[in-house]
Amino acid sequence: MLNHVVNRFIDRQRWLEPVADFLQKVVGGAYKLLGKPGHDLKTFVHGTWLGHPLHPVITDIPLGAWTLAVIFDIIYLFKGTHGWISAADLTIFVGLLAALGAAVTGYTDWNETVDRERRVGIAHGLLNTVVIVIYLVSLIIRVTGGSRGLAIVLALVGYVLVLTAAFLGGELVFSIGTGVNHHAWQEVPTKFTRVMLEGQLTDNMLVKAMAGDTPILLYKRGDAICAISETCSHAGGPLSEGELDGNLVQCPWHASRFDVCTGQVKGGPATISQVRYETRIQNGQIEVRRSEDTLQPN
Ligand code: FES
Repeated sequence: MLNHVVNRFIDRQRWLEPVADFLQKVVGGAYKLLGKPGHDLKTFVHGTWLGHPLHPVITDIPLGAWTLAVIFDIIYLFKGTHGWISAADLTIFVGLLAALGAAVTGYTDWNETVDRERRVGIAHGLLNTVVIVIYLVSLIIRVTGGSRGLAIVLALVGYVLVLTAAFLGGELVFSIGTGVNHHAWQEVPTKFTRVMLEGQLTDNMLVKAMAGDTPILLYKRGDAICAISETCSHAGGPLSEGELDGNLVQCPWHASRFDVCTGQVKGGPATISQVRYETRIQNGQIEVRRSEDTLQPN
């Protein structure tokens, strides 16, 4: 199958590893350098405010714009009408603007990846970076009155490469699961289910309990007991091993922050909130069930 061939090819490109090391230091370092505003900016770029990764929303724009540019260029080649070439130039420009946004959001999301997803991700990112350069050169030739034929050929090459990069992007999501909600398929109890003896829960501690096969994060303060998904929506980190800061729990893997009582995501890279559970005490046992107002669809 095509994806096996592509993945084997990427796995053999060992030079990607040092490049990925370097770029992760650059991307992570740039946000760190900005301090707290940098952290807030990074959360914004991930799409936490949207409840959905921002990157795939933006990537549709250059793909659409450059598809139109190919069509307009071809029509121009057959008809020779100047209007078509102006339309192609404009759509290439719009695609370039959006591609810059896609690059920023993409490299930011990729910065937290490891192993194979990091490898496929950097191949996807580098290919798209080459595409941006090709379209930029094509646009410069167009607006400076250079060879129209060369500009059209470059745009066609860029289009083939951007489709290849899009294939790798699909591979990342659909094969590897990058950016997918990591508790989307967990069995969530909708009826009250015992998870732990009340006496085993200590005040102000994060505790992992099990509702059947589903891990739950419990937190007790005074008489109140809160429960949310234990599995971080971002990449599956164990929230019970995270740090508590007031009402927020910080994931130990990539520092996403969630409200420990509502499950709402308060800081990226996660973009999706945790499942919130209602709790009650029955015969000294803590019981949980999915809250009807949980932000999770499952
Ligand atoms: S697994 Fe990445 S922030 Fe939790």
